[in-house]
Amino acid sequence: MTPARTTSVEVAQFAVFGTPIKHSLSPKIHAAFAAQCGVALEYRAIEAHAADFASTLSDFAAHGGIGANVTLPLKALALTLCASLDASAERAGAVNTLIRKDDAWHGANTDGIGLVRDLTQRQQLNLQGRRLLMIGAGGAARGVLGPLLDAGAIDLVIANRSVDKAQALAQQFNGRACALDQLGNQAAFDLIVHASSAGHDEFVLPSWPESLVRSGTALVDLSYGMASKPALAWASEFDIVAFDGLGMLIEQAAQAFYLWHHQRPDTAPVWGMLRATT
Ligand code: ATR
Repeated sequence: MTPARTTSVEVAQFAVFGTPIKHSLSPKIHAAFAAQCGVALEYRAIEAHAADFASTLSDFAAHGGIGANVTLPLKALALTLCASLDASAERAGAVNTLIRKDDAWHGANTDGIGLVRDLTQRQQLNLQGRRLLMIGAGGAARGVLGPLLDAGAIDLVIANRSVDKAQALAQQFNGRACALDQLGNQAAFDLIVHASSAGHDEFVLPSWPESLVRSGTALVDLSYGMASKPALAWASEFDIVAFDGLGMLIEQAAQAFYLWHHQRPDTAPVWGMLRATT
């Protein structure tokens, strides 16, 4: 009997790069999107540090990598490795999505659009004319400010431990800067976005003043898991609507999936699956 011929099928290679990366939910999210849309792909989590990211990424491309996500602490560095940037990456000053074309990487940033989709579609918040407080002035804050303002948020105040960083960002996005310990001088906000990395260190309840909230104020923490707990605990003291960054994570992934595969996955079942355990 003639043995059956095996055909070798090349599976498209995707990955997320960062440190720490072991617990990244991105491989699970993209596997679920791929199954839903009938796309064959392999999506891995690859640990990379600033010192070795360029070479790790170029190895990945040499082995068939055609798309990548980039997370902490590599988003600003990723921007420097791109041959071109779309408007979202340019404005954010950071890249979270890499697309391989013509033997080069092209950068986009899907974080902001992901956050706005989560807030407006999943959480049903109307951002039009809403006073916005951004707490934190690092890469995470910069990545989402443009799309939040495009969605109609107004009267932007950026509060940060180091006020000089808040000032630089406020200048770029036409907002006002405030030192974290001066927040008591601000009137209440409609949306508070927590984008500092303070929650990653340890559980310390934020000392933000109660005067920041009024009826209808919502808070979103851009992290999820343990890191989001301090801000959510603060919000629960005032009984305001508050959620973590899981929805943003899923929506930014859906936008990256769209850039790579030109298909829009339904994020609701993936949200349901991950919310049960995250
Ligand atoms: P990311 O990309 O997560 O934003 P980053 O660019 O290093 O990371 O920025 C971290 C942000 O969290 C900064 O706004 C930082 O404040 P400083 O600019 O003063 O450093 C903020 N941050 C980190 N640890 C903090 C803490 N313990 N208390 C308050 N803010 C903190």
